[in-house]
Amino acid sequence: MLIKGTIRGCLESFFVINLYGPKLASNKRQLWANILSLMSSNEGIWIIMGDFNAVRFAHERFNSVFNPSEAADFNRFIHEAGLFDLNMGGRRFTFLSSNGDSLSKLDRILLCKNYINRWPSSSIQALPRIWSDHCPVALKSIGSDFGPRPFKCFNSWLGIDGFDIVVNDAACLPTGNGNSDTKFLTKLKNIKSAIKQWNSSRLHSNSIKMASLRSDIDSLELIAESRPLSALEKETRLLWKKEIFELDVLANNDLKQKARVKWTLEGTPKRTLTKHTLDKQPKPKISKFSSRPSPPPPIHRLRHLPPSLHQMAEEAVLGFLEHNEQIGDSGEFALEKGISHEEIVNVIKSLNGFRFVDAQDIKKERWQLTAEGKTYAATGSPEFQLFMAIPPEGISRVELQKKLGDSVFKIGCQQAIKNKWVEMGKSQVSRKVAHVDDNVKALLIKINDGEALNQEDIDALKRRKLISPQIWKGYSVKKGPNYAPKRRKPATDLTRENLQSGEWKELQFKEYNFLAKGFPVEGGCLHPLLKVRRQMQMIFLQMGFEEMPTNNYVESSFWNFDALFQPQQHPARDSHDTFFLREPSTTKILPEDYVERVKRIHESGGHGSRGYGYDWKREEANKNLLRTHTTAVSSRMLYALAKKPFEAKRYYSIDRVFRNEAVDRTHLAEFHQIEGLICDRGLSLGDLQGVLHDFFSRLGMSNLRFKPAYNPYTEPSMEIFGYHEGLKKWVEVGNSGMFRPEMLLPMGLPEDVTVIAWGLSLERPTMILYGIDNIRDLFGHKVDLGLIKSNPICRIGL
Ligand code: PHE
Repeated sequence: MLIKGTIRGCLESFFVINLYGPKLASNKRQLWANILSLMSSNEGIWIIMGDFNAVRFAHERFNSVFNPSEAADFNRFIHEAGLFDLNMGGRRFTFLSSNGDSLSKLDRILLCKNYINRWPSSSIQALPRIWSDHCPVALKSIGSDFGPRPFKCFNSWLGIDGFDIVVNDAACLPTGNGNSDTKFLTKLKNIKSAIKQWNSSRLHSNSIKMASLRSDIDSLELIAESRPLSALEKETRLLWKKEIFELDVLANNDLKQKARVKWTLEGTPKRTLTKHTLDKQPKPKISKFSSRPSPPPPIHRLRHLPPSLHQMAEEAVLGFLEHNEQIGDSGEFALEKGISHEEIVNVIKSLNGFRFVDAQDIKKERWQLTAEGKTYAATGSPEFQLFMAIPPEGISRVELQKKLGDSVFKIGCQQAIKNKWVEMGKSQVSRKVAHVDDNVKALLIKINDGEALNQEDIDALKRRKLISPQIWKGYSVKKGPNYAPKRRKPATDLTRENLQSGEWKELQFKEYNFLAKGFPVEGGCLHPLLKVRRQMQMIFLQMGFEEMPTNNYVESSFWNFDALFQPQQHPARDSHDTFFLREPSTTKILPEDYVERVKRIHESGGHGSRGYGYDWKREEANKNLLRTHTTAVSSRMLYALAKKPFEAKRYYSIDRVFRNEAVDRTHLAEFHQIEGLICDRGLSLGDLQGVLHDFFSRLGMSNLRFKPAYNPYTEPSMEIFGYHEGLKKWVEVGNSGMFRPEMLLPMGLPEDVTVIAWGLSLERPTMILYGIDNIRDLFGHKVDLGLIKSNPICRIGL
């Protein structure tokens, strides 16, 4: 059989010979000669294929007789015809005898040179022998095979409920008479149209569902403005939102895939798709200014990104107005374009703002199904269900009720009686008519599909609370004074690319906004405590103070208490007030001679003091603790000072101390202490008051008062109060005193040396300065970092 024809896009004639080689060698020779003459008189592309009933080589037969002269004839024919016998993939032999014993390669596809030139990547493949004792042999002319021309079916649909059923049902439809190819074709057509129909009704019902969900949410949110929503209402709202989200996801999946299909067909530089689409890509241009090809500038790549939903909606609105007077109803427009109404509304609002369009509100009252209405639309009205549940011979009330459930039974009875569909006997129920239509269900479906009903039907459904009114808001849109068919995004930068391409001449540039604020600088920020500490430090330094080394939180009881003449029974030395260390629990080294002098002054006094008169215990002094005040450091410093020839000193420190306190809004178990001391010959209480005035006035507090107080290590002792201008009251700002001789003399300081000292917390002034009333907002894990970032750098005036 010879088929002659042309193929699309190809000027040459196309010849296909399908042959069945005769058995007799002479007949075969005759056939070869005929084909040769046909080929020589017809220029074009030739394919000669079929069961040649001959092989070319001995190895092409297995367990079957090889005839060399026949093979020679065959080979000569192939040679003279200039045919190519491509290597066959898949199988070595194409024919298997019915008894399964002998094999041979009888079938082949021979190609002429023109064919090979045109489709150089052609290949030949023997396929599984499923239909006869011969293998089908397939010729592929391109490297990749995309199969038959596809129809639109997105991956994103595969996961949607019901898709498989639609396809299955369509595949089972009758395909008529005819050969299997046409039947197959019909089958595919059926599937295609079923999918098409399924998709469009799905889109339609989704957009209706979406609109009704949105308006449901909207009405709930309106209610929320006037009264708090009930738990059920809140839950319902969230449920609806979730439904919307899911619908959105579905719609977006489709859009994504649509965009991908577009890229595949039209080509895009960024994607590796098929060889074909890549072939269509423009070759990268070599820049005139550089010797090597540069990658396309980012701005060009951006232009090929798929349009966003917003962009598509905007193009739809502006494009429509280009040729039409107006968009009468944004809702219908959205439906038509398959874009969510919300997106269209967003675009309209934005375009309206820039006067590209003039938008006019439209409000419509529509009917929507109530929950009850929805169930009936799906399962049928109760009266219909009831009617259908009655067998022709009738049924007992009890049984019918059991069959239908209480609510369907009750409502169904009422309505069916009203419709005169059924006869309700005392115990028996029977049909009154042979056939009924479920009118209610049909009406409900119509409402759901947005169809208009007559007033009578509406009233009936409303009375039965199967539908409820809903306010729908949309727009009608006309061209505005700034209308243009396309909103061009103004360029923000003059770039190398748009200079090179000359594009800058046409570009509209966005005006520079000189009033725009820069990005907030992300950097480290000082905690308010650190800021106030810094201020305190500056004050001490200005007053000529030196900083004491406070870098040890762990201290021995000796330096923290004993050296300060604090008796070992003092309540502050109890574990309820002080954190003692478990490991290492005691100190190893103390200055023994000094310890001896401290012990003596505690037990029996000296230097004119009577001491405390108790048994001083070394074990008590050895106990390690977390220092309860930085005065422990002051005692070490004064002891060190006493070892050298005397020198007057001003010392200060600001560091952390620990006390076993119940944590509340003004107390933590740790805080920072500010401590100052001056040691010199002949200092008096007047000096202390003078220095305190100086110090606190530098903090902005010049009005001070002193109140007698008690510290084991100072005499006299004074609490310091300052008048707070902001709070308009006296606040306690510190504690002070003159260190006792019982403390200083055992250290070895000269007798005429006096030490004035004071201490205060860092937290208290910081809280006052920064208006923080809970210490946990200032210190610890609950501190708001945002607050730290936004706090003023410095605050003067306590
Ligand atoms: N150490 C004292 C306290 O913790 C403060 C203070 C220091 C008092 C120096 C007098 C002299 O409160």
